[in-house]
Amino acid sequence: VKGEYKHFMQKEIYEQPRAITDTIRGRVDFDNMQIVLPELNITAEQIRQLDQIVTVACGTSYYSGLVGKFFIEKLARLRVEVAYGSEYRYSDPILDERTAILAITQSGETVDTLAAIEEAREKHATIWSIVNAIGSQAMRVADGYIAMHAGPEIGVASTKAFVTSIVDQYLLALYLAQARGTLSQDQLRQAIHDVSRLPDLIGRTLEMDAAVQELAQALYQYTDFLYLGRGINYPIALEGALKLKEISYIHAEGYPAGEMKHGPIALIDESMPVLAIALKDDLYEKMISQIEQAQARGGIVIALATQGDSFIAQKADHVLYVPETPYLLSPVVNVVPLQLLAYHIAALRGADVDQPRNLAKSVTVE
Ligand code: M6R
Repeated sequence: VKGEYKHFMQKEIYEQPRAITDTIRGRVDFDNMQIVLPELNITAEQIRQLDQIVTVACGTSYYSGLVGKFFIEKLARLRVEVAYGSEYRYSDPILDERTAILAITQSGETVDTLAAIEEAREKHATIWSIVNAIGSQAMRVADGYIAMHAGPEIGVASTKAFVTSIVDQYLLALYLAQARGTLSQDQLRQAIHDVSRLPDLIGRTLEMDAAVQELAQALYQYTDFLYLGRGINYPIALEGALKLKEISYIHAEGYPAGEMKHGPIALIDESMPVLAIALKDDLYEKMISQIEQAQARGGIVIALATQGDSFIAQKADHVLYVPETPYLLSPVVNVVPLQLLAYHIAALRGADVDQPRNLAKSVTVE
């Protein structure tokens, strides 16, 4: 039931703090400051034998994998490749018993992701899945799994499954780091502290809903959008654009900000809103320079910025402020205003938010 909400998607956006609390619960042993993932079904010795992880997924789950690659490489120092489920088996992939395949799938029934698992199985890789639907095929065929604990997701546009699958990968990265000895006890304690703050940070981010709705009012009649991000927030630019196109039918592209000048800048004029994720992190100066370039071409710049950054208000036409969050976990907070923006724009255009045309919740055909 939707209760006080107009759409399931809106309800599911608001459920994210609770969903993340459920995802963390039981996986963090706060007494010993350790991550526990028994369903992964692997020993520390087996983890030390691995030399790469290949993440396979489709759509939003693929973007989640792009974020997770940063966690696993940074925290556990293990190489990660991220592949589309629909492409993987056509690439004659190089993998063996020292590879773990990480299939990310909300439904656990996406046929392309299942086909990638099949391919990996034949080549003797270890199979892990991150799934929301308990008992689904991707969970049953895996050697080990991590549940998203998002609860049922009804809206076709994925929201709470996206953020919980990112949190699962953060926990996985810490779990692998424990076995591989790549983090000190202090670093592990800090990482656990950081992830525990997420429900509160997302709760605070949701308080900006009225401001996002007002922005949607100013933007909903435009027909082309560009989303820019860098580093760990590049996948969030992709996800923001996907959300908008899925439910509002507006053309939107996500781009790594540095690539703008290699092509898409030709598109920018006064009819194109450009949403730039420009937080106060190491990439801030670079993002400011992209914003200046977009503005010089007449683009309408919307900056997603860190609370307290008044400088950016002089550079952008609109600013959405999010609470300061540790860099690695910032995607989880940053995606929330982009979900809300897509939601409000779609609602203003009178689109069927929960059941967009031509889309199914679970894609079970190739
Ligand atoms: O159930 P899955 O996570 O395997 O689904 C993958 C994609 O079909 C899915 O994320 C799709 O892109 C969503 N509609 C995005 O909102």
